[in-house]
Amino acid sequence: MSDKTRTSNTSGQPQAAGKTESSNWSRRRILGTAAAGVGALAISGIRRAKAAESSDYGSKVTPAPGSRVLGANDRILLGIIGAGGMGRHHIKSILDRKENNAEFIAVCDISEANRKTAVEMCGGKAKSFNEHEKLLEMKEIDGVLIASPDFWHSRHLIDSVMAGKDAYCEKPMSYSIPDGANMVKQVRRTDRIVQIGMQRRSTPSVIEAKQIVDSGFLGEVSLVRAEWYWNMGDLPKPEDMKLEDKVDWERFQAPLPPEKRYPMNPVKYRFWRYFWEYSGGNMTDQGTHLMDVIQWLFNDSKPPLAAQEHGAAYQIKGYETPDTFCAVFEYPKFMATWTLTYTNNWHDAWSIIAHGRKGTLEIDDKGARFYKEKWPANWEDFPPEPEHEISSPLRVDLHEANWLECMRTRKQPNAPVEIGHQAVSALHLANAAHHAKKRATLDPDGMTVRIP
Ligand SMILES: NC(=O)c1ccc[n+]([C@@H]2O[C@H](COP(=O)([O-])OP(=O)(O)OC[C@H]3O[C@@H](n4cnc5c(N)ncnc54)[C@H](O)[C@@H]3O)[C@@H](O)[C@H]2O)c1
Repeated sequence: MSDKTRTSNTSGQPQAAGKTESSNWSRRRILGTAAAGVGALAISGIRRAKAAESSDYGSKVTPAPGSRVLGANDRILLGIIGAGGMGRHHIKSILDRKENNAEFIAVCDISEANRKTAVEMCGGKAKSFNEHEKLLEMKEIDGVLIASPDFWHSRHLIDSVMAGKDAYCEKPMSYSIPDGANMVKQVRRTDRIVQIGMQRRSTPSVIEAKQIVDSGFLGEVSLVRAEWYWNMGDLPKPEDMKLEDKVDWERFQAPLPPEKRYPMNPVKYRFWRYFWEYSGGNMTDQGTHLMDVIQWLFNDSKPPLAAQEHGAAYQIKGYETPDTFCAVFEYPKFMATWTLTYTNNWHDAWSIIAHGRKGTLEIDDKGARFYKEKWPANWEDFPPEPEHEISSPLRVDLHEANWLECMRTRKQPNAPVEIGHQAVSALHLANAAHHAKKRATLDPDGMTVRIP
């Protein structure tokens, strides 16, 4: 799926719901995160962000045993938490691939309209829930797809594995570095199979590009550039947005401390990814995909040593997070840049370009192309023929299939939880630099962020 489809994929619109949920767990989590996260880091002086001190959700729960041992021919029974654009994409994609031998027997969403649509897509018989805890009580469920907004991933993933379910959790895996470290810790207290939704890890062109990079084709690489260009419209004003859905808004904002909870705001519900309470903005949203590939190909999947960033919401009305930015990352042997604008769609696409002493690699939606140095001096010879060209679009279906297969074999999938955490850590670091307007460094423990 193109991430772009998300701009028009949450079908229903919310209304205020009168329910209040007790959320001691969430308050503790977010306060802890804030103490170690971006807010605190913006204060001058060195701040240490230790996951162990700040985010321990799930630590006191005894994990339930896994639901059952799956044989090669057993039908896998799934549930979905978050049936918006990406959740419904997963339902269709998994059901379309018959060899998956899987079905959805339960749907959870706080939107009544999205619940209904998803149940219909699942054949009409799936049970539906507003609260994910109720879905997780279904003993017959083997695995759970999590496609909720980013600030819910931690709780949804930890609750799922503690309930004995395998899980596919969408990217960006975490809302903060401490959050992600705790997710790794809690998942590894169990024997559950967890895949993070970074589908480039299962896309043939990227896998083959990794092999060619490992063969030394590029030589020493000193610069890698990740870029993303889309032209997006302004957000509507809340008063102009008509709501025809019934949404449990109190539950939506349950993970937030009281001062970050607001009366029903349909724009924040629908466009949550452009507000800091719910997401790291496009820095983490799209950046997770691309920085993961950069780290996988060139830095043993490890996060950077430091990041700097400049960005702002220059044009798009209603955005709180930047519509345009450039982050610079320092890795031990090279630097990477990550540039995005949603104000102009030059090429209408994403790309990663790696510059080596012996060659250049371009990866994009079409596939991967390797060019030998040096490029031709004559303009007539442009563009040169690639030495290697691997054509393949992104394959979410193969990433899902890899998870389902690993549920049967109990092998680790292509994007396990450590990889998900390391990928988004780079972007959380860049957001810390953005808020502090200073260079942010990450200690070798992968958790301690320092801003001088
Ligand atoms: N891998 C990819 O290419 C890709 C593409 C798009 C989105 N995503 C990721 O998928 C996730 C969902 O994104 P989306 O575009 O589908 O957003 P969306 O807003 O369309 O859908 C989110 C859904 O979650 C529901 N929800 C919110 N809080 C909930 C809760 N507590 N319990 C149950 N349901 C809840 C909402 O009602 C909505 O239906 C995000 O993490 C996003 O980054 C990944």
